[in-house]
Amino acid sequence: MFNPRSHASWKFLAADSNSGLVDETSPILSINGVEKVYPNGTRALKGVSFDVPRGSFVAVIGLSGSGKSTMLRCINRIHEPTAGSILFDGQEMTTLSPKELRHARQQIGMVFQHFNLIKRRDVLTNVLSGKLGQMAEFPFGGIFKRWPKEWIEEAHAALKLVGIPDKALVRADGLSGGQQQRVAIARTLMQKPKLLLADEPVASLDPSTSNSVMQYLKILNEKHGVTVVCNLHFLSLVREYATHVVALRGGEKVFEGKPLDITPQWFKDIYGEQAKEVEIH
Ligand SMILES: Nc1ncnc2c1ncn2[C@@H]1O[C@H](COP(=O)(O)OP(=O)(O)OP(=O)(O)O)[C@@H](O)[C@H]1O
Ligand SMILES: [Mg+2]
Repeated sequence: MFNPRSHASWKFLAADSNSGLVDETSPILSINGVEKVYPNGTRALKGVSFDVPRGSFVAVIGLSGSGKSTMLRCINRIHEPTAGSILFDGQEMTTLSPKELRHARQQIGMVFQHFNLIKRRDVLTNVLSGKLGQMAEFPFGGIFKRWPKEWIEEAHAALKLVGIPDKALVRADGLSGGQQQRVAIARTLMQKPKLLLADEPVASLDPSTSNSVMQYLKILNEKHGVTVVCNLHFLSLVREYATHVVALRGGEKVFEGKPLDITPQWFKDIYGEQAKEVEIH
């Protein structure tokens, strides 16, 4: 057990501006008994529990309608969970005040299937918007709509990292889907979140573009230390990129383990007897 009084435990403690001292060996996210009932009565999540280890790349899989998007949206409270506990980096998300929630959300990035960029603005502005949560620290920037010079340099570096340094001044809606998703990833780089929630980030992309976008998520995870929770449809991508897997069926967790633990029998349990695996390489 973790004992903050023991000398040995102190080396695992890191100062955290929001929640005091955090045990670096504890899961970054601990989900316990989460339920979601939508106003129309749909029970989308039925007591789901799992841990997300720090630094991991967790894939959430399951049939359409199994509750994957609901799960991700409950984590940062885009949707309010009906019951259960969501412990993020030592703080209980479900009881945060609006101000505390804003602060917690600065540390949780999101990437969506349809990219969610400001379509009519240029790529650079979209990338810089990853810093909006920190804008309060630069009140003059907010009033005069001027971004600090070091942020602009950082945004160019982020675009270089995702392989589109020449697109900074192009309107977001003038890019291909794969390029738009790379802008969304660059925006996340600017935010420097501890946790990234990705809801089917490659579902709108062709196989080869999917792989390159997954590679950038992997760089975020491995080189920038961002823990990733990602809804994915293709098991071949899960096997290639995820370190852990959680499977949902009808709002319940039916599998938790490593990608290689998904045997043909588990595949049938998760996706149904008739399902056949489709690969993407
Ligand atoms: N806003 C909503 N209001 C009512 N019911 C909803 C809402 N959003 C989702 N649902 C229902 O909750 C269940 C889970 O939906 P969810 O979108 O989480 O599934 P999913 O696993 O992400 O599916 P997909 O793979 O198609 O994206 C479904 O039955 C869905 O119809
Ligand atoms: Mg979904």
